[in-house]
Amino acid sequence: MQISCRIVAILGLTTLGYLFSHTACAAEKPMMKAVVAHEYGGPEVLKFEEVSQPEPKENEALVRVIASGVNPADPLTLSGKYAREFGTHLPLIPGYDIAGIVEKAGVKVTKLKAGDAVYGYPTFGGGWAEYVTVTEGEVAAKPASLSFTEAAAAPMGALTAWQALVDVAQLGAGQTILIHGGSGGVGSFAVQIAKARGARVIATASTTNQDLLKQLGADVAIDYTKTRFEEIAKDVDAVLDPVGKETLARSYGVVKKGGIVMSLVARPDPAELEKRGIRGAAISVHPDAEDLAEIARLIDAGKIKPIVTQVLPLSEAIAAQQQAETHHTRGKLVLRVADDPKG
Ligand SMILES: NC(=O)c1ccc[n+]([C@@H]2O[C@H](COP(=O)([O-])OP(=O)(O)OC[C@H]3O[C@@H](n4cnc5c(N)ncnc54)[C@H](OP(=O)(O)O)[C@@H]3O)[C@@H](O)[C@H]2O)c1
Repeated sequence: MQISCRIVAILGLTTLGYLFSHTACAAEKPMMKAVVAHEYGGPEVLKFEEVSQPEPKENEALVRVIASGVNPADPLTLSGKYAREFGTHLPLIPGYDIAGIVEKAGVKVTKLKAGDAVYGYPTFGGGWAEYVTVTEGEVAAKPASLSFTEAAAAPMGALTAWQALVDVAQLGAGQTILIHGGSGGVGSFAVQIAKARGARVIATASTTNQDLLKQLGADVAIDYTKTRFEEIAKDVDAVLDPVGKETLARSYGVVKKGGIVMSLVARPDPAELEKRGIRGAAISVHPDAEDLAEIARLIDAGKIKPIVTQVLPLSEAIAAQQQAETHHTRGKLVLRVADDPKG
């Protein structure tokens, strides 16, 4: 292919040759399989297609994706309602969680090299594809103790939990946190991170996920379909809310003075905060290589573990999106992009 491109480039002296050279060189662009949306909408707009591989800029690396996680953020992005906030544009390849192997690195990349096993969160998605470009700030070394499939379940959920509990709440030993949705993508990491930091954890989930809350280490597990959480959780230091609406509205009353309510889906009500002398934060996760490295250390120390409930082939991204939209995923769903060398 390389030779034919050069030959037609010589023929480029003629108009016809010029046209040929362009056609032949364009055909040489490396291709990849990807899940692509050409319009915003529901899961049905996703197509499994052959598209050009992304070309890394000087400050980027090209990663061969082995597995990619699924998040509620994927259907949100796909809806187009938050295109400005997410910085997305069409055509769109979803996928904020990746684990894979660095294929090549741009000249300004210093910490990544071909062959490195990495996991991370590309800011603008693109992970539901055989290749994705990342910057050094978006990935870290994959936890050695995890397969690529397990590692792909971690980035966005674990970073959200980490940035809320550690960076914002500075949760520590002797404190109590109420974690709503402790069985979900963010909550399952939050319960484990809180326990790893020595905090007491009260977590909520529906009936079928009570076993998971206990397995994750929650000290108290509440079935929110049967028990109002405020009957059990009182005077807590922090609340993590991935649900919003009524759950958030009822959460202010269980926080002790000086404590904090952190929501992933809404801005805590300033009037409620002021009235009760508590703090509030609307969490907005961001990629962070140092946080990912800290999380990898905790994973390799056996303190936290991604809960992978289901693994689907990349071609079944529509089913994955439909599950992500339910807001009742147990742990994480992962898309298999290539054979996982770690099983
Ligand atoms: N702001 C940010 O930066 C950020 C980052 C990540 C995620 N998010 C958002 O946070 C939300 C959660 O994300 P996720 O990945 O954890 O979602 P997920 O995997 O779908 O988990 C949702 C969790 O919420 C629980 N749940 C559902 N309805 C509930 C209710 N009425 N009361 C208590 N718990 C309830 C579910 O438990 P059951 O299945 O047992 O009902 C499950 O544990 C999503 O809306 C996502 O878009 C925001």
